[in-house]
Amino acid sequence: MLKSVLMLTSLFTIIVDHHAVRSQGGATQQIEAIVKGRCFAYRFVRPPGLLPIPDVDCDELWANFSSAWTYRESCGQNRSSYENLIHPLNQPLPPNKSLFWEETKDFTHRLANDGKRYVPIESTLIGYVADDLTWCGQTSAPGINFTYCPPYHSCSNEVMFDFWVAASKWFASHAQGEVRVVLNGSLPAGVAYGRNSVFASVELANLRSGIVTKLTALLVHDLDKPKMETCGSQSLLDLKADVLAKNIAFDCLENPPEVKYLLCADLPESPECKQNDCGNLPPYNRGSGVVTGSKEGLCSILLYLALTSVVISMGR
Ligand SMILES: *[C@@H]1O[C@H](CO)[C@@H](O)[C@H](O)[C@H]1NC(C)=O
Ligand SMILES: *[C@@H]1O[C@H](CO)[C@@H](O)[C@H](O)[C@H]1NC(C)=O
Ligand SMILES: *[C@@H]1O[C@H](CO)[C@@H](O)[C@H](O)[C@H]1NC(C)=O
Ligand SMILES: *[C@@H]1O[C@H](CO)[C@@H](O)[C@H](O)[C@H]1NC(C)=O
Ligand SMILES: *[C@@H]1O[C@H](CO)[C@@H](O)[C@H](O)[C@H]1NC(C)=O
Repeated sequence: MLKSVLMLTSLFTIIVDHHAVRSQGGATQQIEAIVKGRCFAYRFVRPPGLLPIPDVDCDELWANFSSAWTYRESCGQNRSSYENLIHPLNQPLPPNKSLFWEETKDFTHRLANDGKRYVPIESTLIGYVADDLTWCGQTSAPGINFTYCPPYHSCSNEVMFDFWVAASKWFASHAQGEVRVVLNGSLPAGVAYGRNSVFASVELANLRSGIVTKLTALLVHDLDKPKMETCGSQSLLDLKADVLAKNIAFDCLENPPEVKYLLCADLPESPECKQNDCGNLPPYNRGSGVVTGSKEGLCSILLYLALTSVVISMGR
């Protein structure tokens, strides 16, 4: 009994964190203005990045979105009710650029660079308009409950969870070529890849074999936290097995350069961020030249010897 309660709790935690929303309480204030405004901003303000911009009527987008949940109970809704919204948009996704994530949303967004480097779901129109919002309905006017919404995925067919499941399903089933998932290798207790996660059960499940050719896991180790998992850990081996079973090639990288240098931008003093590899000495002045590590000390000596021999040979 206790075991099954614990299992349920961990399943709940994994799923809840996927698109958990910041605000507590009811629906986001001014949600209609925000959704319409984001839709207009996506069309007319935001740089296009890698995605074509759909020629969408933003009032109609709000009408289709809100009709799926306003004037209704927040739980037990019909999952197909978002289809009017998601399918007509059908924004084409560029090959090799799709970026999935689990427990790494903020970092993923920095890596994606607002859809210019990679395309996470929040860079598509449908993900962009809904990102970080809270919503739920009530049967009485105005049809939106601004006082209280059930927490994300706290009941069956909870309206926000259903939206993100439908959007994620659309997003994954339209990905092409090589795709990536950003996973968290520093979760204190959890696993980087959980088979109950939205990434596993909705996104990976909907990748098309033959059209998606490769999935690369970018396993992020926060520089200031203990490493909890590596590419050899069980959950990453599970992921590898699940990806290969779909006939999609698999690779796993721990803090590859594109990840590491972004992490280092925030924590430049971390030991991992010091350039202490002779092969990587930048061609510019390294400042005070203070020797901070034995490897750097060795580099300085080698550099000194090299320079001395140049000077000596020039003197001849
Ligand atoms: C709204 O839903 C209607 C009916 O399915 C569809 O024809 C239309 O394209 C949708 N528009 C938007 C912006 O989602
Ligand atoms: C769910 O949607 C389908 C298709 O629109 C409809 O036939 C069905 O009655 C709906 N079920 C509920 C419980 O609303
Ligand atoms: C996608 O990646 C594959 C493999 O690296 C490459 O052959 C293909 O040209 C890429 N497609 C685009 C559109 O960049
Ligand atoms: C990994 O998870 C921890 C704990 O939730 C979080 O503090 C950290 O920001 C996450 N790392 C990344 C790269 O998202
Ligand atoms: C808002 O939701 C809460 C919790 O479900 C409910 O008690 C309250 O009556 C709702 N507000 C309205 C106006 O329906």
